[in-house]
Amino acid sequence: MLRDPDDRLKIAKKVALLAGDFVKESQFKVKNIDHKANIFDLVTNVDKKSQEIIITKLHEVFPNDEFVGEEQEHAGFPETGWYIDPIDGTVNFIHGLQIFGISVAYVENGEPIIGVIYLPIFEELYWAEKGQGAYLNNNRIKVSNRKNLQECLVVTAHSSSFEGTKELDKLKNLIGKVRRVRMFGSACYHACMLARGSIDAFWSHHLKPWDVAAGYLIVKEAGGEILNLQGSEGNIFRNDLIFTNAKISKDLLKLLKE
Ligand code: IPD
Ligand code: CA
Ligand code: CA
Repeated sequence: MLRDPDDRLKIAKKVALLAGDFVKESQFKVKNIDHKANIFDLVTNVDKKSQEIIITKLHEVFPNDEFVGEEQEHAGFPETGWYIDPIDGTVNFIHGLQIFGISVAYVENGEPIIGVIYLPIFEELYWAEKGQGAYLNNNRIKVSNRKNLQECLVVTAHSSSFEGTKELDKLKNLIGKVRRVRMFGSACYHACMLARGSIDAFWSHHLKPWDVAAGYLIVKEAGGEILNLQGSEGNIFRNDLIFTNAKISKDLLKLLKE
């Protein structure tokens, strides 16, 4: 029987690769696009199939585990279990943009201990196990060293539940204070770019545990920091998180609170 974190990591990598290859191969053959909570909240047949591939395989090996997948019914968010986003960046995926990822995490007592994100177009597998560092394929990765906001690339997002001026005011405060603001449309991609030092921070509203669980651990293990917008330690159940390289958190929070 496979049980320990290394086994979970091994299988999580395998299923993320499998689902990622399927998603990549299916991008220009989408058959159905449905709306969920509103007309901006989309799901395709490929999201659903990717989730099925992931959960079926994980369930075969870990039949007693709990699974929370974005595209399935779930009663609340368990403190221990798998959190799966079968395509993070569905809007990009639908539009033929190639920034999207498959995100698989195992959470224990509210904290991710295994995190795997696969960016299939780039063939990049980001992964981390609690206490063991963060990796891109087989290479250790670290967040950037930039300390001065004027040298920093900061990423944000707006989701299908946009809050109007509240979010725009925060964005306005950053422009002219940081090197540039970017919006790539996939929370897990943002986490990977932060973990490898390409961007310096990422903040967003409306995140769900499946958007951030894997990225949370990968960023932490790469030396980053995750806070809520009040400045206390973040957790995957909060939907107002900032992810940083741990050097600019205070300055960035100040701008976001202004
Ligand atoms: C979305 C993306 C987007 C973020 C949204 C998420 P989805 O996930 O990560 O960048 O701004 O909050 O819902 O719907 O593509 O899985
Ligand atoms: Ca998502
Ligand atoms: Ca998704």
